[in-house]
Amino acid sequence: MKKIKVKSPANIAFIKYWGQKDKKLILPYNDSFSMNLSNCYTIVELNIHEDKFVQELYIKDYQQKEYVKDKGEALVKVKKFLKTTERFFGRKADFGFKIYSQNSFPKKAGIASSASFFSALALALTLAFGEKLSQKNLSILARLSGSGSACRSVPDGFSWWRRGESSFTSYAFSLAPPSFWDLNDLVLILSKQEKKVPSVEGHLNAPTSPFFKLRLIDIKRRLRLIKKAFLNKDFSLFGLLVEEDCLSMHMVMMTQKPPLFYWSSQTFEIIKKTVTLRKRGVEAYYTIDAGENVHIICQRKDKEKVYDYFINQPEVLEIITNEPTIGTRVI
Ligand code: DP6
Repeated sequence: MKKIKVKSPANIAFIKYWGQKDKKLILPYNDSFSMNLSNCYTIVELNIHEDKFVQELYIKDYQQKEYVKDKGEALVKVKKFLKTTERFFGRKADFGFKIYSQNSFPKKAGIASSASFFSALALALTLAFGEKLSQKNLSILARLSGSGSACRSVPDGFSWWRRGESSFTSYAFSLAPPSFWDLNDLVLILSKQEKKVPSVEGHLNAPTSPFFKLRLIDIKRRLRLIKKAFLNKDFSLFGLLVEEDCLSMHMVMMTQKPPLFYWSSQTFEIIKKTVTLRKRGVEAYYTIDAGENVHIICQRKDKEKVYDYFINQPEVLEIITNEPTIGTRVI
């Protein structure tokens, strides 16, 4: 029995992907830009079985001691992705599998657990098929998993997902390695509850927001500016653009039909407290994905100050500190 073990990080988007132009091919309306997170990752171990009918998934969640056999939703998605991979390589899988997946962070809480899982699975399945893919093509395969942001977990450090016009031109590449800039992402865990509406449903309804068109116009400017701010390491401009994009995406979410409110009252308190912290001279900026937890972006030199401030807030249950890291790898 052959074993393949892959580790892949979650990522936090500075400029976000919201809305799918093509829901089958998972083509986004806009480019997005993210950082891989060193302490939020998934390890997938794929055990290959000769018997094609063996198809099992075991999950060990954040802070759990044992693997639990998945009987539902997650296994269905894995089987679907296996079919996608078969089409990608143009042949049927001649193997069965037992997959063991473990997460270093709470899943479905706005920390892109599906991105780390599916990017890891994309590489594991590629190897199980006996294939080798360039980083570009692996990112395309990861995108086709349905969790589009998975494509950004494949390259190292800071990833740029070019929206592209077709499946072959929509992929992520590394804009800079992890060592380029010592940004930190402190994930403030405010709740460990799973989000109620999966991103996939939300993406489809994004164009029903009257603000969606405006977002797409404005995002072109933001993408241009953030790239410049990033390459010049202009943290003040960078941080403001990160917050601007977060608010723009959540404005679309809250005004699409049906509306999506991922924020809780705690989320809002933390937004206000981040602004207060900044007024006290500590440069920290917030961003929020499809969940109520908040990501605080700062430079490494300010990490302790940011940590000490937030760990003492009543809304914060726990903090996961992250540095930029490499992408999907065999371990
Ligand atoms: C809000 O469809 O990639 O995080 O499958 O839930 O991981 P999951 O999400 P996906 O959409 C992610 C959207 C986002 C913004 C972003 O990461 O760009």
